This record gives sequence, C-alpha cells and structure tokens, in this order.
Amino acid sequence: MTMPSHVRLVEVGPRDGLQNEKQPIEVANKVRLVDDLTDAGLSYIEVGSFVSPKWVPQMAGSAEVFAQIQRKAGVTYAGLTPNLQGFESALQAGVREVAVFAAASEAFSQKNINCSIKESLDRFIPVMEAARANDIRVRGYVSCVLGCPYEGAIDPAQVASVAAELFAMGCYEVSLGDTIGTGTPGATRRLIETVSAQIPREKLAGHFHDTYGQALANIYASLLEGVSVFDSSVAGLGGCPYAKGASGNVASEDVLYMLNGLGIQTGIDLDKLIAAGQRICSLLGRSNGSRVAHARVCA
Ligand code: HMG
Ligand code: MG
Repeated sequence: MTMPSHVRLVEVGPRDGLQNEKQPIEVANKVRLVDDLTDAGLSYIEVGSFVSPKWVPQMAGSAEVFAQIQRKAGVTYAGLTPNLQGFESALQAGVREVAVFAAASEAFSQKNINCSIKESLDRFIPVMEAARANDIRVRGYVSCVLGCPYEGAIDPAQVASVAAELFAMGCYEVSLGDTIGTGTPGATRRLIETVSAQIPREKLAGHFHDTYGQALANIYASLLEGVSVFDSSVAGLGGCPYAKGASGNVASEDVLYMLNGLGIQTGIDLDKLIAAGQRICSLLGRSNGSRVAHARVCA
C-alpha cells in the first residue's frame, strides 16, 4: 500500500484538549484558540461539546464559543454530542457538523456516558435522524480501540463491530480512539486490517493519545495501512476525564512535522500552529506538550 499524498488533520485541542484542563478557561481564550487554529490553516476543528456540564464542566460554554468564533469558508467547526439533547443544543448554537461517540469497552461506556454500548448506539439513532433532517454531517468515534483502563485488552473484532454499526447508521467517517495511548504499531496495523474488512479504509480516522509515547509510530503504521485522517491536539493538550492517567492527544505540531518530512500535504502552516499552541499554553500556565514546539521555541 502506498502512503497517502494528502492527510486531513482533525484538530481536537479545543474539545479533547480543554475538556481535561483543571482550571476554568474563559470563553474568550477558547475562541482565541479556535481562531488561531483557523488562521494556521486547519480545515477541521472540533470546537467543543454539548454534554452534561455536571460531567464535563470545561465544555459548559461551548454554545458561546461557537457564537463568537470567526468562521472561515471551507473549514468545518464540529461539536461533540452524546444524545439528542446535546444534538439539539448544538443545532441551536449553529453547529453544522457533530460527532457521536461510542466505546469498544462496556466498562468505559458506563463510566464515560453512563450506559451500555448498545444503549449508546440506540441513543444515536434519533440523533442520526435529526441530523439527516437538518442536513448535518455526523462523524463517529469508537473509544478504547487498543485497550481500556478498566477492562485491559480489547478484541479488534469488537471494535470492528461497533465501528460498523456507527458507519451503517450514517456516520460518514469513524475515528478509532486509542483513549489511553497503550497501542503499539503492530497492534494498530492489525486493528485497521480487522476494521477495514467492514468499513473502507478511506472512511477511517486515527485518534491516538500519547500516554505511552507511541502515537507518532501508530500514525505512521496507520499511514502504511492507507489511513489518511488523523485527530490531534495542538500542544498535546488534554486527556480524557474518564480514563485516569490518559495524557493528551498526540501534538498536532509533531504530527505535522512528521507529515511535512514525508512530503504529505496538509495545508497547515507549522509556524502558525506552533504559535497557536504557545499562546494557549501561556494562557493556561501549562507546559507545551509538543516536542517540535519545544525544539523550535528553545532553539
Ligand atoms: P446521565 O446522567 O445518564 O443523563 O448522563 P440523563 O439523560 O439521565 O440526564 C441527567 C441530567 O443530565 C439531566 O439534567 C439532563 O438534562 C442532563 P438534570 O435534570 O439532572 O438537571 N443532560 C444533558 N445536559 C447537557 N447536555 C446534554 C445532556 N444530556 C443529559 N447532552 C450523559 C448521560 C451522556 C449526558 C453524560 O454521561 C455525559 O454528558 N457524558 C459526557 C462524557 C464526556 O463528554 N466525555 C468526554 C468525551 S469522550 C472522549 O473524550 C473520547 C474521545 O476523545 C475518543 C477517544 O479518545 O477515545 C471522543
Ligand atoms: Mg480522545
């Protein structure tokens, strides 16, 4: 299989990143981050989520963030929605693309969204119907695809089955989430081989948290398998509130640096992306999780 010549990076820092920050974050700072990312040339930004504020307080202001960002033509600004209530809030906030999320692990599904995998998929059916009626595209996530914080190893066939259900109900793309970052390249390739028996590879995305430092290797393995969409988080922000010890997604800057080196096109400006990461890190008073940003800024 030849490497893709073009990759779409799905920037999840404002959602997956900021959802896990400890201190309160002002709406203005979230807006600034999204605007900086737009300016850096990202074509897809996950801006926030419409989940219970009791479960994830950091995402409470997502509607205001959507109202205040500067939208650029051709850029997708998406919101995460766990159920119809979240979908309706997203619609009201002017969101034109949403993401639903299921897990490949029963225990994680209970901890994250308080229901079984089957119940979560059932909840998505009315979301899909409402989305179709309003001409909204829906992306799907499967969590814990390479390991679960509660159940340990996960059978790739179970991931394939949940992913296939999401695809069958109308998700145009399914992002495979290594929520706790335990996956390694061989396991990643085997996973993609199993899932792609049910969903075309061009409909798959990789979502790697970098807890064990394997994310770039896993992205490279996925590229070799023909996957051309990857989720990443500027400055490596974040983690998952329901996966203890999970660090942020792989840093967007580091993925971009690797893709640039491979001659793969993304349309993203590395210097502007680094500046976006530096700004949010200094606003949050946290260190930058991108190795490339460290190398460039300290050089
Ligand atoms: P529940 O308590 O079972 O919900 O939570 P419920 O239907 O029984 O409702 C209870 C209360 O929540 C009610 O309010 C509802 O109105 C409210 P009350 O009457 O008590 O005042 N509620 C909502 N409020 C706002 N927005 C909504 C909503 N729905 C109900 N959409 C629920 C179930 C799914 C809501 C909850 O568990 C939840 O919000 N979970 C979100 C968890 C989350 O956001 N996790 C992080 C994102 S997933 C992730 O990071 C993984 C990913 O990155 C991929 C990877 O890394 O693998 C995507
Ligand atoms: Mg995640």
